[in-house]
Amino acid sequence: MTPDRTDADAPILVIGRTGQLARALAAQNDAVTACGRDQFDLAQHDPAALLDHHRPRIVINAAAYTDVNGAENDELAAHALNCTGPARLAAACKARDVGFLHVSTDYVFDGTPGQAPYAETAATNPLNVYARTKHEGEQAILDANDTALILRAAWIFDARGGSFLNAILNRLDQGQPLKVVDDQISTPSWAPDLAQALLTLAARTKRPSGVFHYKGGDYASWYDFARAAAELARPHLNCEPVIEAVDSSAFPQAAERPKDTRLDAQALLDAAGIDAGDWRAGLPEVIAQRYEQRIG
Ligand SMILES: NC(=O)c1ccc[n+]([C@@H]2O[C@H](COP(=O)([O-])OP(=O)(O)OC[C@H]3O[C@@H](n4cnc5c(N)ncnc54)[C@H](OP(=O)(O)O)[C@@H]3O)[C@@H](O)[C@H]2O)c1
Repeated sequence: MTPDRTDADAPILVIGRTGQLARALAAQNDAVTACGRDQFDLAQHDPAALLDHHRPRIVINAAAYTDVNGAENDELAAHALNCTGPARLAAACKARDVGFLHVSTDYVFDGTPGQAPYAETAATNPLNVYARTKHEGEQAILDANDTALILRAAWIFDARGGSFLNAILNRLDQGQPLKVVDDQISTPSWAPDLAQALLTLAARTKRPSGVFHYKGGDYASWYDFARAAAELARPHLNCEPVIEAVDSSAFPQAAERPKDTRLDAQALLDAAGIDAGDWRAGLPEVIAQRYEQRIG
């Protein structure tokens, strides 16, 4: 394990370096030391040495097993990365009086139409392995560390990740018509907005603990989101984008997805003064980065 920087006084240690959220956290705060899996394998390594080396004031876990379809055939690895590793890290933070922030997912809910928007107290029912391991991780973290704070977020996107957004933009760049599901609804989250919420929480000397919902802006279906992205990308495309709304049944996937996981984030606003993000404001930034700086 080699430290990213020799600054052992860096107050915020982020687990993860190249991921969407990890990058956004590092970009927004010079006090962040981001630690890639080559330096600290969350699934395997003992966090004691990492914490004793960096001596952070707070740890933000931005690392996870995020391949939702892949997890269906890789449950042990998903569980190690989404549950056992974070719980071990949470316990090590607790033992050293280091704050611990973690990110979970809207997929802990089954999204049965008529249930959303979900408050934190709503009954969970994960539909796939990824979601189940994230849900088990929430409980294991809170069992290990009663001061931990877990933010559930949905549909994180940035300019470079292997996200849905980049997948559709890649297709549009190639002039291919798209079919996008309009029966899955949630709150897209622009990675820098979510990072800002976490860094605001990290800066607090007194933080609430437990599970909170983060809302990335107004609700949308994947179809709405794709349309908004295509509209912004249009000047950069060689032909008119064609996007057809379809039902989820048109796209059978290894992992079942919940239909409607709109999150109610009022509790986060009440407890910590953190309001919703604004993915519609982030999207033009992402499109500009992709087409004007060519980093897609
Ligand atoms: N993406 C979404 O739509 C979404 C939605 C809801 C919730 N979430 C949650 O939000 C958080 C951030 O997601 P994201 O989209 O930023 O993820 P991401 O882009 O897929 O990045 C995953 C991160 O996990 C790290 N990682 C993977 N295996 C590791 C290991 N064995 N040890 C240490 N680190 C490891 C990677 O490390 P390297 O930097 O070394 O590559 C990377 O930084 C996760 O907890 C995820 O479950 C995501």
